[in-house]
This record gives sequence, C-alpha cells and structure tokens, in this order.
Amino acid sequence: METNLSQNDHSTDGAAARGSWGSNFGFIMAAAGSAVGLGNIWGFPMQVGKGGGAVFVMLYLCCVVFICLPILVAELALGRSSGRDPIGAFQVTKPATPWWLAGALGVTAGVGILSFYCVIAGWTLAYIWFSLSGCVGQAPGAFFGAFVADGSKNVLLSFAVLTITAGILLGGVREGIEKASKVMMPALFILLVLLGARALFLPGAASGLAYYLKPDLKEMANIAVLNAALGQAFFSLSLGMGAMITYGSYLSKKTNAVKAAGWVAGLDTMVALLAGFVVFPVGFSIAGFNPAEGGPGLIFSVLPNLFASMPGGALFGAAFFVLLTLAALTSTISLLEVPTAAMVDRGWCRRKSVLLVTLAVAAMAVPSVLSQGAVAWLTKVPGTGMDFLSLMAVVWNNWALPIGGLLISVFVGWVWGADKAIAELKAEGNSFPGARVWAFLIRYVCPVAILFVIVMTARGMFAG
Ligand code: PFF
Repeated sequence: METNLSQNDHSTDGAAARGSWGSNFGFIMAAAGSAVGLGNIWGFPMQVGKGGGAVFVMLYLCCVVFICLPILVAELALGRSSGRDPIGAFQVTKPATPWWLAGALGVTAGVGILSFYCVIAGWTLAYIWFSLSGCVGQAPGAFFGAFVADGSKNVLLSFAVLTITAGILLGGVREGIEKASKVMMPALFILLVLLGARALFLPGAASGLAYYLKPDLKEMANIAVLNAALGQAFFSLSLGMGAMITYGSYLSKKTNAVKAAGWVAGLDTMVALLAGFVVFPVGFSIAGFNPAEGGPGLIFSVLPNLFASMPGGALFGAAFFVLLTLAALTSTISLLEVPTAAMVDRGWCRRKSVLLVTLAVAAMAVPSVLSQGAVAWLTKVPGTGMDFLSLMAVVWNNWALPIGGLLISVFVGWVWGADKAIAELKAEGNSFPGARVWAFLIRYVCPVAILFVIVMTARGMFAG
C-alpha cells in the first residue's frame, strides 16, 4: 500500500512521466469533459423517448445517485492509489489474482465503445457544415436518413474523428485536454441554456414538457427500462471501463476526489437534463412527432427544425454542432486514452500504442457505419432485430459497463477494502463526510442492484 501511494505522488513534480492534472478545476473539467458527450445530448433524450419519458428520467436519477456516484468515487480512489491504467490498477492492488481481467474487460469496452462513438461524432462533424450551408432543408428526418446511408462519406468522417483524437493524444494530452475542457465545458453549458430558453417558447413546448416530466408509472416495473437507465447512467458518467481509474491515476493526493466526483456527476446530469428540455419541446412542436420512434437520429432530425425557426439559426445551429463535436472529442480522447494507457503501462511507446489502437478501432467502426443503410444485413443483424451500431451500443453500454461496474464495486468494497479506499480518499487531510454511507453503498447497494438488473434482463431476454 505504501509503495502504491508513493508511486503516484506527482503533486510536487508537475508533469511527471505519467502526467498529472494542473489544477483541481482543470481535472474536474477534464473528467466532466469525458462524462459530458454524445451520451448526454444525443443518447439521453433518445433513451427517454424509447423508455417512456419521465419514468426513465426518474430511474436514471436513482441510478446516478445510488449506484454510479459511489462507483465514480471508487474508480478515482483505485486509480489514484495505484497510479496505473485499469489493468495495472487491479494488478498492483491485488497482485497474482485474476482481478486484472476486470481491467481488461474495461479496456476492451473502451475500444468497442469508441468504434461506434466515432461514427456518431462523425455525424456531428458533418452537421456543422450542413447547418451553415442550409442544405438540411424542410425535411430533416429524410435528409438524415439519406446522409447516414452514404457509407463512404461516413467512413471518412469517422476516420477523421479518430485521426483528430489520435493527434491530440500524440501531441500531449494533459495540456490539451485540460485547457480545452476549461473553455469548452462552460461554453457548451451556456449554449444549452440558451437553446432551452428558446425551445420553451415553441408551440409544442407544453406537451413536450408533459412527456418529459410526467411519469407513466406502469413503465416503472419494466425491467428493460431499468436496464436501459442503468446502462445509460454508466455510459454517461464514463464508468465501468476504467476511464475514471485512468483519469484518477493522474490525480494529485491534494485533490478532494470525493468533492470532484460530486461535481462531475452533477454537471453531467445537469447537461443531460437540459438536453431533454431542448429536444422534447422542439420535437412536440413538429406535427406527427413520435418520441419513441426518434431512434439514433433524434437530435439530427429534430434540432434542425429549431434552428430553421430562429433568426441567425444557421450560425446558431453550426455553433451547437461545433460544441457537440468538441464535447464528443473530449469523450473520444478519454475512450482512446484507456487502451493507450494500458499499452503504455505494458512498456509500449505512446506513439505505437496510439497508432495500433486507432487502427483497430477504425477497422471496427466500418460495420457500424455500413449498418445505417449501406449494407442490408447490417441494418438488421440476424437474430437481434437491431442494426449493428445499436447492437454495439447495447453490448458495451448495457452489458459490459454494468458488469465492469459490478466487478469494480466488489473489488473496491470487499477485496481492496472500503476502509483502505476511504483512507486513500482522506489522504492529505481531505474530508469525506459521507464515508460510512459510501462504504455501505459500494459494498451492498451497488453490487446487489447491478446484479439484480443484469440477471433480470438476461432472464427477460432468454424467456422472450
Ligand atoms: N460519457 C461519454 C458520453 O456520455 O458521451 C461516453 C464515454 C466516454 C463512455 C468515455 C465511456 C468512457 F470511458
């Protein structure tokens, strides 16, 4: 334990070999940058649409507070204590046990998630230009459908996203991520508030808000909705795959990681909720809008209507998609950083690691691109009823991340030990007022709740 602590004491040596965050605020913005992304602005409203509105929102908030926040604290503690990538964090903390496999699952999930995330980030990139040029026209839904079905254009766009991400990682991540996040996150927030204020004055705003805020309680017992809420919460907070272990490994002992975790979870949730205040009022102001049919195109086929109705909408629309792309990039950076850190900590040089991981992800992204209309069997993968991109999202978000979260909570709560984690979090005189509550949540509530959801979902799948 002593050795582990000293391995990561970069508080005084600045940018030590593994790097470190420059300031508390910078770390919070970078971690919030990882958390806030397409999952909040694209994924959350889409899941609310599929999951029956306000019931999904309520279940989502419960998952964030009682399951994800404790796991976020656990990941940061494990990362900071070990000073390693996700695989190394388990190895260093409990050597000669198979626990490193939990880290390996996370690293694999990072590659899997990035393989479809970069496709959607490619869409946001293209929409910057589409907004400026006004080519979306009067039927944004049809335009979006035709655009995503263009395989070659979208392969290039997703490769462009991966190239930018890899370039940032190669050129010194910490300086880049931290500085950019400090500007981008507040800007994104302000723009969302402005858009929400505009959306609330649209004609359909009242029915949109009713759908968003009024729970249909019979959906409460729907385990599929609970599974989706849990998967979405893990995904949105970048949990269960070691992104926060990795970011925690660059954290100084002086930082109060518990307080930082509260900020990250709070900001992330606020951005997701705000995105709903934009998308639903706008959607319901359009005749024939059915949120359950929104699908992956929800924000791409809904928001252009809002922009078209606004003075200066082309610029505003372009600004929105610029910020969405930047928010996506701070997330792709953290997704790529996890497998990269895993290779670097195994002795590979950073350049080679970034290159190899990027190539692997690029190859895996191709079927996700082609599943949006270009290749028939990928648009409905046999036996699943889903297109390949959605299948990837379900496999990694709804399964791999909660399983990863389950393993992390058991490991930190029982194997490493909640008391040791609390000691780590209280290092350098940091306060942790709810420590006993946290220990209870991480030891009992998180594993039991996650296991329950996983088992019930599996039963439902095999029964149905
Ligand atoms: N949290 C990101 C989002 O909501 O878009 C996605 C993500 C990033 C998931 C990083 C996992 C991760 F490690």
